Amino acid sequence: MLVLGIESSCDETGIALYDSDAGLLAHALHSQVAMHAEYGGVVPELASRDHIRRVVPLLRQALARSGRRLEAVDAIAYTQGPGLAGALLVGSAFAEALGFALGKPTLPVHHLEGHLLSPLLSADPPAFPFVALLVSGGHTQLMRVTGVGAYELLGETLDDAAGEAFDKSAKLLGLPYPGGALLSRLAEGGRPGAYELPRPMLHSGDLNFSFSGLKTAVLTLVREQGENPGEGFKADAARAFQDAIVEVLVKKALKALKQTGLKQLVVAGGVGANRQLRAALDEAARRRHWRVYYPELEFCTDNGAMIALAGALRLQAGAAAREAGAFAVRPRWTLDFSGA
Ligand code: KG4
Ligand code: ZN
Repeated sequence: MLVLGIESSCDETGIALYDSDAGLLAHALHSQVAMHAEYGGVVPELASRDHIRRVVPLLRQALARSGRRLEAVDAIAYTQGPGLAGALLVGSAFAEALGFALGKPTLPVHHLEGHLLSPLLSADPPAFPFVALLVSGGHTQLMRVTGVGAYELLGETLDDAAGEAFDKSAKLLGLPYPGGALLSRLAEGGRPGAYELPRPMLHSGDLNFSFSGLKTAVLTLVREQGENPGEGFKADAARAFQDAIVEVLVKKALKALKQTGLKQLVVAGGVGANRQLRAALDEAARRRHWRVYYPELEFCTDNGAMIALAGALRLQAGAAAREAGAFAVRPRWTLDFSGA
């Protein structure tokens, strides 16, 4: 079965072709980061317009790389939500129109389902069941994943997402958008322990997170420095921020493993690219004979491959593709399919 995947929920347009026998055949991606950087964050209307510009050329690119013809596609999977309404509409309308024109069925996919299944694209994939730690720009969640379509929400952030906290703190330190990866590089040159920042909800007893207070603590730290804080200060502050957020994420992920009795952790979403987080999780897991799985770096952030994969796995698991045509997007959509 050949599945075309389309992702357009935020600031990346992703197209991919996944074959249930041969695996991922090709994917093509365009990131709008450079376009939004000028404004210090994603501008939704610009995002939508750019998705419109990119979607057809990217489809052609992916098809050429895959060596398959559009007519060979069996089903079209696309991100229905959560995300920016206008951006989602572009991918959804494109997918449904294409399906209608080709006479192929469509399958709306939950963006976070794509993220949490993305490690299955690796050469050494995890087996079900596992705990998933989803840490992206818009979400921070712990889920128990017992199979395709069986996701139970264990805990989530009550305010800012982990990636959002990284990006906002980076901005406070004068780094350009999206600053998460830049902050983490800066932190590598910072002195551990130069500053202490709070670890919000570390001892809350549940699996929820809160990061807005941490961001405020960075703001206070920056203000105390007055005008023109030096590079040394920025690196130390970045380190203090990263130490705090990594400790909370690791502690809660371990708690989720203990609580569920599972021994495999899957880390997905953009923050999963963070080296300090990976090192800390790997170290904690090694001591307990648990295992941590990550998507390939290129599939940590948004992409079409994870959507094509999620679509193919869902269809294989018996989900019904629908006749293409009418559609609706779901900008807010929680991923708790445990009862489904
Ligand atoms: O999963 P993703 O591409 O987008 C959403 O679905 O939200 O994640 C993007 C987020 C951004 O907040 C970005 O700053 C963060 O992931 N990110 C990082 C790193 N690389 C990307 N955060 C910390 N360390 C990194 N190395
Ligand atoms: Zn994402």
